[in-house]
Amino acid sequence: MVLKEQKELVKISEYQELAQQSLSEMAYGYYVGGANDEITVNNNHLAYERILLSPKVLVDVSKRNLSTSILGTEISMPILVAPTAFQAMACDEGEIATAKACAKANTIMILSTLANFSIEEVMQKATGPVWFQLYVYKDRAITKSLIERADEAGCKAIVLTVDSPLLGRRERDIKNCFQLPKHLSAKNLIQAGMHELPNQNNNSGLAAYIDSLYDASLSWKDIEWLRSITKLPILIKGIMRADDAQRAIDYGASGIIVSNHGGRQLDTVPATIDVLPKISAVVDNKIEILIDGGIRRGTDVIKALALGAKAVLIGRPILWGLAADGADGAYQVLELLQKELDHSLALLGCPNISDISRDLLA
Ligand code: GLV
Repeated sequence: MVLKEQKELVKISEYQELAQQSLSEMAYGYYVGGANDEITVNNNHLAYERILLSPKVLVDVSKRNLSTSILGTEISMPILVAPTAFQAMACDEGEIATAKACAKANTIMILSTLANFSIEEVMQKATGPVWFQLYVYKDRAITKSLIERADEAGCKAIVLTVDSPLLGRRERDIKNCFQLPKHLSAKNLIQAGMHELPNQNNNSGLAAYIDSLYDASLSWKDIEWLRSITKLPILIKGIMRADDAQRAIDYGASGIIVSNHGGRQLDTVPATIDVLPKISAVVDNKIEILIDGGIRRGTDVIKALALGAKAVLIGRPILWGLAADGADGAYQVLELLQKELDHSLALLGCPNISDISRDLLA
């Protein structure tokens, strides 16, 4: 909690600088890092810088509307919070702080399977909409029980991550022999006895955990299985190709998240914003498209919507906010992006989020 000593922070990157000062090298390296040379991590944001805007003038922008609805849930802006693991490394309240920030900002939080607080603990404190991000364990009884618990606790959708049959090769975590601080664990897995990461001498504890417990045989037919055991809508997170987007529709997904896992899985895949146009052409408004990866500015949100996304997800910026000042810091990050988005819409001559179209790109 170092925010109070600072002058006002005016951009996400300043929250990141602050987080770097306050977090351990192990925690910061885990949050910031990506796979191999981190080419994709870096490209995710750089790709937005290459897309330019084309403003309209003499449009009445005195009143602006940022609100939208995602899978029928009304939210204040097209910015959701992505699932990120182990948030209590950033601040003691961890995922509970994020839930408070999202409720205050009136947006959707996606809670990770690998949270430091259990689904029940988070949902008890959450006053806004929460979706549950699912990793499929080899032991399907564990997977089924996670879904049932999420449903019973009040989560409104399941976000199935499909890009992680094995964990990406994250060299920072390998070097740091990534491990959770002793007082933390993956609390959702306590009942299954799988809440602790194995200690490793020359590897990431998380890589060892995931590689041994997650189901690398997961395939499209398992979407049918998931749909047979829950009535909750299922979104598929990790789509990077138009043909996979089509399959997601065919298998009954309610939405997709165009994601390369923040560049943390396979390095040198394209930036998500660069694959969005092809994907949105195939999806053709049949289901909702969300996108994450590299969104750091209000203008990035506009570009994603112009290219076919209904909303974006932010991951790391929330961690920087949590590290800066807990729930308040995470809320400030959401508020900052909302203000940037509002301001940019005015300057773009597009007062309504719903009117953003490709025509506003140069
Ligand atoms: C966990 O989901 C991670 O990407 O580290």
